[in-house]
Amino acid sequence: MAPQPSDLAFVPFVSVDHMMGLIHHIGIETLLCDLADAIEADFKRWDLFDKTPRVASHSDVGVIELMPTSDGELYGFKYVNGHPKNTKEGLQTVTAFGLLADVESGYPKLLSEMTLLTALRTAATSAMAARHLAPKGAKSMAMIGNGAQAEFQCLAFKAICGIDEVRLFDVDPAATAKCAANLAGQGLKVVSCSSGEESMEGAQIITTCTADKQYATILTDNMVGSGVHINAIGGDCPGKTELHRDILMRSKIFVEYPPQTRIEGEIQQLEPDHPVTELWQVITGQTVGRRNDKEITLFDSVGFAIEDFSALRYVLSAIQGTPFSTQLDMLADPDDPRDLFGMLQRSSQ
Ligand SMILES: NC(=O)c1ccc[n+]([C@@H]2O[C@H](COP(=O)([O-])OP(=O)(O)OC[C@H]3O[C@@H](n4cnc5c(N)ncnc54)[C@H](O)[C@@H]3O)[C@@H](O)[C@H]2O)c1
Repeated sequence: MAPQPSDLAFVPFVSVDHMMGLIHHIGIETLLCDLADAIEADFKRWDLFDKTPRVASHSDVGVIELMPTSDGELYGFKYVNGHPKNTKEGLQTVTAFGLLADVESGYPKLLSEMTLLTALRTAATSAMAARHLAPKGAKSMAMIGNGAQAEFQCLAFKAICGIDEVRLFDVDPAATAKCAANLAGQGLKVVSCSSGEESMEGAQIITTCTADKQYATILTDNMVGSGVHINAIGGDCPGKTELHRDILMRSKIFVEYPPQTRIEGEIQQLEPDHPVTELWQVITGQTVGRRNDKEITLFDSVGFAIEDFSALRYVLSAIQGTPFSTQLDMLADPDDPRDLFGMLQRSSQ
């Protein structure tokens, strides 16, 4: 009989079904708060991590990216795509999966779906940043772009920042209707708006989360009053931005990792040496965030590998003792490590 694989050959795998089970088990708002804390804790250890702009493969219709990092003990990467035209074909704009590995042995420790996890970690990161940057006591948020990410953003800002009203706008009214229906009964006042301007009335936080492979102008300069916090999510690729350049010139800009954001973020529209503040430095108290209640703060979010690493590590810990993973026979692991071929031969007997 062929030898059975060792325990190390089996890697816990979190499927989409398991991830949904885990989210319901923990509760989405608790999970968003936990993730925000986990990401914030890792931003406090910023220096420890390997950092590189993500590796992007562009086509005319989208991008496929790899996002690696390591803290010296664990290594993680995410595979993620961005294809704005996909929804018209019944497909998701963004899908993802990711892996965590043990740096000591190089053996994987977790393989997970990350489409849902990306929505959660993006929302948790946005709200964590706003916790540091948004005007104190902010209660109302404009949510522009009501696609796959939108509800996650709204719930994260409720749970983490205390937002109690969201003002929805999308060029496609069906997306707004979907988002409003999904948010009903979640403890938020939901206002569906028919223009971007209307969505911003009375809002202290403006989230832009649209998908379009072009230099779009979701916000023009005259739409943005003083003192607001802008959470710009959708501009995350070369040639794909959401804000008019004049808004950037009036804002104090916060970024995740400048070498990546200068390629992908709203600031690709600015000179390469335009001053920006790294979010981790605000979190560690090395620099100030918002300086006064008139300032426009802008989180120019593109999504950085450390956020995915934090999310995967959180999931690895959260699945322990739960039914929300299966063991995947993923690694060839012969009894004699040099006898890979022998293992193959014996498997036919
Ligand atoms: N920063 C990050 O970390 C991060 C993470 C994940 C996704 N994203 C980006 O966030 C964006 C949204 O992702 P998604 O999965 O929700 O996409 P989606 O395609 O599901 O939704 C996008 C929505 O934007 C709307 N839209 C397009 N142009 C608009 C406009 N001019 N005004 C108002 N609405 C408009 C569309 O109708 C659609 O409903 C994408 O661009 C994606 O690449 C960023």
